[in-house]
Amino acid sequence: MPEADKEGKNYHPGIPQKSELFFLKGSNELGWGMKNRLARIFNPENGRTIMLAIDHGYFQGPTTGLERIDIDILPLIPYADTLMLTRGILRSIVAPSVTKPIVIRASGGPSILKELSNEEIAMDIEDSTRLNVCAMAIQVFIGGEFETRSVVNMTKLVDMGTRYGIPTLAVTAVGKEMTRDAKYFRLATRICAELGAHYIKTYYVEKDFETVTASCPVPIVIAGGKKRPELDALKMAYNAIQEGAAGVDMGRNIFQSESPLAMMKAARAVVHEDERPEKAYELYNTLKNESR
Ligand code: R5P
Repeated sequence: MPEADKEGKNYHPGIPQKSELFFLKGSNELGWGMKNRLARIFNPENGRTIMLAIDHGYFQGPTTGLERIDIDILPLIPYADTLMLTRGILRSIVAPSVTKPIVIRASGGPSILKELSNEEIAMDIEDSTRLNVCAMAIQVFIGGEFETRSVVNMTKLVDMGTRYGIPTLAVTAVGKEMTRDAKYFRLATRICAELGAHYIKTYYVEKDFETVTASCPVPIVIAGGKKRPELDALKMAYNAIQEGAAGVDMGRNIFQSESPLAMMKAARAVVHEDERPEKAYELYNTLKNESR
């Protein structure tokens, strides 16, 4: 027989058990697993995230800057909150000892040589659980040729993920010929949220972006888009955050920078420390010069 414990006294009957609201917009009614995964992607202290997007190869092959992920991207990972990539790159290049939350690219099909909106769900939920991912990402082509297919794919992924407590990130993809304005992004982000996406990646627009974030009931992160000068990219990230975005999911503006590590750290300062873009650009230049 084990020795009996002394009778405990620390019942604190006068202190009610705390019950906290979840920190992320629109996410309070989600299950524990979903919330825990989202809390690994978004910092619970400030509700923000800086995601490093390196999934471009799933439709465009070895994109400039991603030719050798082992050499050029792995050193950036410690400065990202989250890594967005395909299962192929995760398994072949990223060590399992890396504990950063993973957002897995779960859609695919067409290459840049074909109609991009013709996507399918490209992995099973079981593989997402095997890879211990924190969210699954899927492209949604509002206004695109295969709009309905992409929307229904997203809802199927939301249903699959909900069974296992894995959130879905809807990525609003815009056709080349389509107008990128706040009206379009309000439509696209709201449709994704209404149909169950847990957070949404979209593009920043200079005019009325705050109406996009305000009318979307779940968190929004912005994509970086095409490579632009570093100061411009930092200004875009800063403005997006100040206008209601919960973070950035940047790819080319980081890994195609002259100094990806310096840019990663500068963007991080903008997202997490509200660093002004000009100061963050100074940091970028200092770090770039130090690394020479
Ligand atoms: C789209 O092709 C991918 O989902 C990228 O992850 C996304 O576009 C973000 O990357 P970037 O900042 O290069 O636009």
